[in-house]
Amino acid sequence: MSKYIIEGGKRLIGEVSVNGAKNAVLPVLAATVINNSPVTVFNCPKLRDVETMIRILQTIGCKVERMDDVVYVDSRTLDKIKIPEELVREMRSSIILMGAMLARCGEVEISYPGGCEIGPRPIDLHLKALKSLGAEIEEAHGFLYCKAENLRGCEIQLDYPSVGATENIMMVATKAEGITTIRNAAREPEIMDLQKFLKVSGVKVCGAGTSVIRIEGVKSLKGIEHTVIPDRIVAGTYMVASAITGGEVVLKNIEVEHIQPIIAKLREAGCMIYNNCTTLKIIGPRKPNAIEMLQTLPYPGFPTDMQAQLMALLSLANGTSIIQETIFENRFKHVEELIRMGANIKTMGKVAVIKGVKNLTGAKVSAKDLRGGASLVLSGLAAKGTTEVDNIHHIERGYENINDILSSLGADIKRVL
Ligand code: UD1
Repeated sequence: MSKYIIEGGKRLIGEVSVNGAKNAVLPVLAATVINNSPVTVFNCPKLRDVETMIRILQTIGCKVERMDDVVYVDSRTLDKIKIPEELVREMRSSIILMGAMLARCGEVEISYPGGCEIGPRPIDLHLKALKSLGAEIEEAHGFLYCKAENLRGCEIQLDYPSVGATENIMMVATKAEGITTIRNAAREPEIMDLQKFLKVSGVKVCGAGTSVIRIEGVKSLKGIEHTVIPDRIVAGTYMVASAITGGEVVLKNIEVEHIQPIIAKLREAGCMIYNNCTTLKIIGPRKPNAIEMLQTLPYPGFPTDMQAQLMALLSLANGTSIIQETIFENRFKHVEELIRMGANIKTMGKVAVIKGVKNLTGAKVSAKDLRGGASLVLSGLAAKGTTEVDNIHHIERGYENINDILSSLGADIKRVL
């Protein structure tokens, strides 16, 4: 099994160019099936989840080619409505194909999705909304059979601003007759990216980035070119890498507006951050400050996908910090591993109390999920001695060449088979 071996204690210095956002490219690739015309997507990160989405598209009959970070999808040849179970199980976000396939074919068969084990992650909001739009959904033996002869625009009040549900609704609504209004929609930048994709494809859609999104269905979408937004979580993770090593790292190709919630908390932790709109320099403190209260929230709150990385930093802070995870249950799996490295953390339900320690020490630890795994790599960069992180397939679902990038900044990290 592959693992990372990290000798901690190196100050990271240098420049990183941030790749396209995993959580933006996945819905965009799913949406290409609605276009029924060739689509070229630029700035596609080379990640396992993206490869899984590409394989799904190929299996259902699309022609897909990748050249470096450019992915070309021609969905005119699509000829299957069943999404292969083993691929869906690899990646929870394959559920966004439900909306895309309903819009394209009026029919889809898909198994319940897999993904990170960070809580029950139900899909009730997706199903309720798709039913309101006219889909009939049968659930049997772990499969969902969805059919919609007449998709009709409607008003949808989401009980929670779910990112995936908002994306699924937007996609179905592109082909629904009339106007669909989503209230309490997710406001994440990835939703704005999907809106841009759909708008350029010819759909009348507005409001992404606010809580109310309106979509007017159209008969057909056209072939387009689209460039994916930079990955705000990858950017945040390298910011913490600089912060935790007292380093000096410049991030390029970022969208600073999307990472304001992360910038604010890292400043509170004592980092110096200078930026313009697309570039940022972060200088880590000698010892981070504790953060009295960090609560994960839907955008523009602090992202749950950065919670574990911040916890790694706060485990070395001067004083005691509190983190409350409000989005997912079971998103503290990294805590046990951080404790093996000498962190002093106690959890009670959705709250973690982190008492800063003087040093972390290298240990053998195991990535239990994507972002938790990243937090172990970050801790290893700061720890005394050698850290071995295994189960790194979780980490590689979301980070492109993380070991090479950290090495280029001066970290001592090796990937061994
Ligand atoms: C997306 C991101 C993920 C991020 C999350 C929250 C992608 C591919 N993944 O996941 O990285 O951590 O947003 O920012 O974009 N919920 C329900 N019923 C539903 C749907 C969701 O109860 O039908 C709950 C979930 O269990 C969770 C919360 O709502 O507690 C947020 O989930 P959601 O916003 O849907 O996250 P994802 O789209 O799965």
